[in-house]
Amino acid sequence: MQVPIRLSLKELEEYKPGKLVKGSIKLSSNENPLGPSPKVLTEILDSIEDGELPLSVYPWERTEELLRERLAVYTGMGKENIVIGAGVDGVLDTLVKIFIADGDEAIIPVPTFSLYESLVKIAGGKPTYLTRESDFSISVRDLISAAGEKTRLIFIASPNNPTGNCISADAVREIAQSVPEAMVILDEAYVEFADSSLLKEVKDQDNVLVLRTFSKAFGLAGLRVGYAVVPQWLASMYKKVSMPFTVNSIALIAAMAALDDKEHLRRSVELVKHGRKYLTENLQLKVYPSQANFVLVDVAPANSYEVYEALLKDGLVVRDCASFRGAGNSLIRISVGTQQQNEQVVDAFKAF
Ligand SMILES: Cc1ncc(COP(=O)(O)O)c(C=O)c1O
Repeated sequence: MQVPIRLSLKELEEYKPGKLVKGSIKLSSNENPLGPSPKVLTEILDSIEDGELPLSVYPWERTEELLRERLAVYTGMGKENIVIGAGVDGVLDTLVKIFIADGDEAIIPVPTFSLYESLVKIAGGKPTYLTRESDFSISVRDLISAAGEKTRLIFIASPNNPTGNCISADAVREIAQSVPEAMVILDEAYVEFADSSLLKEVKDQDNVLVLRTFSKAFGLAGLRVGYAVVPQWLASMYKKVSMPFTVNSIALIAAMAALDDKEHLRRSVELVKHGRKYLTENLQLKVYPSQANFVLVDVAPANSYEVYEALLKDGLVVRDCASFRGAGNSLIRISVGTQQQNEQVVDAFKAF
């Protein structure tokens, strides 16, 4: 006999990551095609060799602090405003634990990153889905009217996954001021590829925070390092709720080395901006304007699964967006790759 589990978990679906098919080109998870800075590997090996990174010892608090100091410089915010976690995923896990109890609500404009809704459901909360407009922007008026007494979180990815568009600072301010008893979570996982950031809103509003990651522009998705810039009142609560040693010693060293290599970051961002433009101009389909390291393509009247399968046969793994709530079944998300990979994508679409 099975021991009863919490009722709220019964409907839960497993997170479906971008597929990895051996021998194929993976353009399904928005990773960095250049990989991390070569300095990351050198730094890790040197630190182990000279004893600075003893693997038998728990991560040092001082190393965490050093990373937060470097992030303070990188973001232009105070060290006391920065908290870290095992990727944005790990940071979100802690934040949802802080804000969502049984019956609390969270507003999620869809389509978007599916982890938001899973975490809210796991915590016993209730997601309120808000359908984005036809250009995937968010109606601020509709969002504010969707908020109720029990709304504690509002999730806004900017740039948004899978649509690639951003929200304006004015819209964020209006939302934050109209719903002061909810925390506005701005997920900037892709911000390095965008024209601007919303970090300033954390300085100006007590109920706004920004999430960032080393998984995308810094090429460290495998090491799981993320952070949040939060109002100071939230930082000490975050530390109480977060798992201890959530970012491992190798990841801490790697993140600092990645931050130091500004030239690698510049090259990675440049490659994406160039490739994004190339894909947008050459795919000969409706490509939504993107501020991220992927493009969203509407393949209607074809079906997204049919196109996904056809590309897979050509050795290209892209993301069929049918699994995103509210995305319909004609959208394909393609991570920007190297120029050669992007050309392969264009050729495959032409053949299709
Ligand atoms: C909007 C968004 N946030 C967060 C993540 C996950 O980031 P991390 O690898 O830091 O957990 C992703 C991953 O694709 C994403 O698209």
